[in-house]
Amino acid sequence: MATIGTNIGQAKQLLKIGQLVAIPTETVYGLAANAFDIEAVTRIFDAKKRPTFDPLIVHTHSFETLNEFAENIHPKLIKLAQIFWPGPLTLLLSKKSIIPDLVTSGLDRVGVRIPNHPLTLELLKQLPFPLAAPSANPFGYISPTSAKHVNDQLGSKIEYILDGGSCQVGLESTIVGEEHGEIIIYRLGGLAIESIKEVIGDVSVQLNQSSNPKAPGQLKSHYAPKKPIFIGNITELIKRHADKKIGAITFGDRHFSQSNIVIKNLSPTYNYKEAAINLFSFLRELDDSNVDIILCELLPEVNLGLAINDRLIRAAS
Ligand code: TXA
Ligand code: MG
Repeated sequence: MATIGTNIGQAKQLLKIGQLVAIPTETVYGLAANAFDIEAVTRIFDAKKRPTFDPLIVHTHSFETLNEFAENIHPKLIKLAQIFWPGPLTLLLSKKSIIPDLVTSGLDRVGVRIPNHPLTLELLKQLPFPLAAPSANPFGYISPTSAKHVNDQLGSKIEYILDGGSCQVGLESTIVGEEHGEIIIYRLGGLAIESIKEVIGDVSVQLNQSSNPKAPGQLKSHYAPKKPIFIGNITELIKRHADKKIGAITFGDRHFSQSNIVIKNLSPTYNYKEAAINLFSFLRELDDSNVDIILCELLPEVNLGLAINDRLIRAAS
């Protein structure tokens, strides 16, 4: 199992010799390696059993360091970066050659993000290179929002997990880029689309689903628990699956008369932020419990409800 701790020096030493370290961010935990080191980046793909056509996000600590590895940044994207970084926003930018093709799966753009977590920001400041880091889960499974989640599944494959507590956003970053002057959202995430529109006006949403898309994190089936998961009206789903041990993920002020159902309420007070924080840990809890199936309802299609629904639908695919 990995060592879990808060020792930035140790994390730094391991990263400098090409090893993997799990890092906390405000969205989800990442599995990090030196983004300039192809061997180290290869270890990420191996540990996650991740296909190399699925590119990695590069994490850095300041807007200034960006110029080392990205160019021709659209003014609207600069504006988003100025307002939302550090934060749950990834920008797809024209890459410079210093970023290995392995990191971007051969694409012309690199995904970049300044994460908002004090431990990881400090680590990034002390390192002479940026960190490539996907979510620290086996490929296709639910993203980790605590050091324990990382250790449970990848503990045997990494030396050190930098423990930054529970993630304060709980959903992966929103991915934004530009094509022919148009700003496009490629992945719904922890930064609500409404917040983006307030700053730069209208944007289009392009959530790819094919097997070789521009943003493969958008594969149709992803973020999936091992147990079957069904989406719909919970009361009806409960009736239909009456012979099974049921776990249910709900939202808002809901009560169910059945006593044999494990209910995990994302937010009894309709708070989207709270729901986002709880989503992945509730899915994991139910997946690790003795229920046979997981039932869930979609949230209203506003605010972080959009990204939460996106994850639920992919989990159920
Ligand atoms: O919040 C997050 O974004 C977390 C934390 C650790 O930063 N990271 C994360 O990484 O969710 P990952 O690898 O699980 O998802 C990254 C996704 C890829 O699957 C892909 O969809 C998209 O980001 N992506 C990354 N680089 C890209 C690129 N160059 N072009 C298109 N899409 C890219
Ligand atoms: Mg992921």
